[in-house]
Amino acid sequence: MSDLYVQYLAGYGLEVPDLSVAERFYSTFGLSAARSGDLLELRSSGGAGPDIAVVQGGAQKRMHHLSFAVLEPDIPRFFDHLTKLGLSPATPPFGYIRPGLWFQDPWGTWINLTPIAAVRDEPVRDMVTEGRVDRHLWRELNRDICPNRLGHMLIFTPEWEKAQAFYEQALGLITADRAAGKVAFMAGGRGVRDHHCFGLINGTHRGFQHSSFQVNSLDDIGFGARQMHKAGYSEGFGVGRHALASNLFFYVRDPWGSWVEYYADMDKISDAWVAKDWQDLPYIWPDWAPEFWANEMNANHEPR
Ligand SMILES: [Fe+2]
Repeated sequence: MSDLYVQYLAGYGLEVPDLSVAERFYSTFGLSAARSGDLLELRSSGGAGPDIAVVQGGAQKRMHHLSFAVLEPDIPRFFDHLTKLGLSPATPPFGYIRPGLWFQDPWGTWINLTPIAAVRDEPVRDMVTEGRVDRHLWRELNRDICPNRLGHMLIFTPEWEKAQAFYEQALGLITADRAAGKVAFMAGGRGVRDHHCFGLINGTHRGFQHSSFQVNSLDDIGFGARQMHKAGYSEGFGVGRHALASNLFFYVRDPWGSWVEYYADMDKISDAWVAKDWQDLPYIWPDWAPEFWANEMNANHEPR
């Protein structure tokens, strides 16, 4: 398994009561939207396929699927690997959404492995630090924020340690850091890449916690927060800087109670990275906010 692994989080799926509510929220966030029938596809400016595929569902929002990018030649290898694990890839009951393999994890979540032609470039365009003499930076800033790409998502899961072991074994994800007993941050790919593209939160049942989209700078995060606020999406948390992964962030609450994040300036890790089990989840700035982190962020809004 050591040479078979997913590259990064390619996308995810949501099932929502009203597609137009999802379209308005994510379009305001800066993703481009395309509808075909009961499927809504949302794309960042740099995404290969849809970052988010939204399908018409019942009364409550639910996470619908996860999608990870896999190099094309690794697709048949994953087919064999998953079959050996008793996870035979199959055609999902909801019809075509993305190309590639589909299978269900032991908790019933559908996972897609979508083929890509090449390893993704990891451009680092964070922050404005050079060429600042005799300029009006404020006049040059981009105020219309369209995220570069989906960076990561975190999901609630029961059987937290078992789930972590499963995602390592089945998908080749590597645990980059853990807040002991609470959160596992996991990286895809090998070589230099984002600190995490996926994560697991210890919980009572499966559910979407948050997803996060990369922008270029602290200004982009600020303008993004402003464009959401102006459109009426006024519940948010941040701006701040995380401890684990060190990224700058702003969270905005989605229409179903969960969170979507703008992030920039995340730590990159290499194959030399050593994972740590942090006994307490540390906070940089702002200070620890119990109402947000203990209650709002840890509320799983999906039915069991
Ligand atoms: Fe995040």
